[in-house]
Amino acid sequence: MKRLFIAADISDEARGVASDLIRDLRTRFPIKGVSWVKPENLHITLKFLGDTNAEIEQRVMETIGKIAAHTSPFTIKLDGPEMLGKRVLSIRVMSDATTVFDLEKRLDTECERLGFKREGRRFHPHLTLARIRDPKATGHLIKEFQGSQIEPIEFNVENVMLYESKLTPAGSMYLPLLKASLKKT
Ligand code: 2AM
Repeated sequence: MKRLFIAADISDEARGVASDLIRDLRTRFPIKGVSWVKPENLHITLKFLGDTNAEIEQRVMETIGKIAAHTSPFTIKLDGPEMLGKRVLSIRVMSDATTVFDLEKRLDTECERLGFKREGRRFHPHLTLARIRDPKATGHLIKEFQGSQIEPIEFNVENVMLYESKLTPAGSMYLPLLKASLKKT
């Protein structure tokens, strides 16, 4: 079984800006109980699949390939700091006309046919920067984060990625299993 998820990669520029913000907050708030996302792991989750066997993994790859072949590349804009609940520090994501929302919906619908549960909550695209284990101990960090200025960045999403998430003693490692190019319809 592999723990899988489908994601959009972010541009180098966006990775740079998000990593700088993480480094800055992390240095100024060296608090235990906050798990910061490593720069190389930054991504926009489109669909979390969880533990998946080899046969279904194969079908997921085919499905992603088909959907990507019928989806045009689109623009994403990172749009400011946002707390998701009390525990997730993220950057909000905005998307243009052929939106990330359409892509997520297609993936969610087709993955349901393969036996995955549909996403219960409304899709809220975001770039997770950190996860907090104890919100009570991190009030200053959260306040500072919410006041952070994040330079607006736009980039094109050209691919859909399938990743395996591996838990190692050094934290999560994401292995790319598939990169499917978005094609103009
Ligand atoms: P998020 O933190 O960006 O919201 C890989 O683990 C990615 O899958 C994570 O970045 C997380 O997205 C998402 N994820 C992990 N566990 C999940 C779960 N149980 N349900 C939904 N999404 C999950």
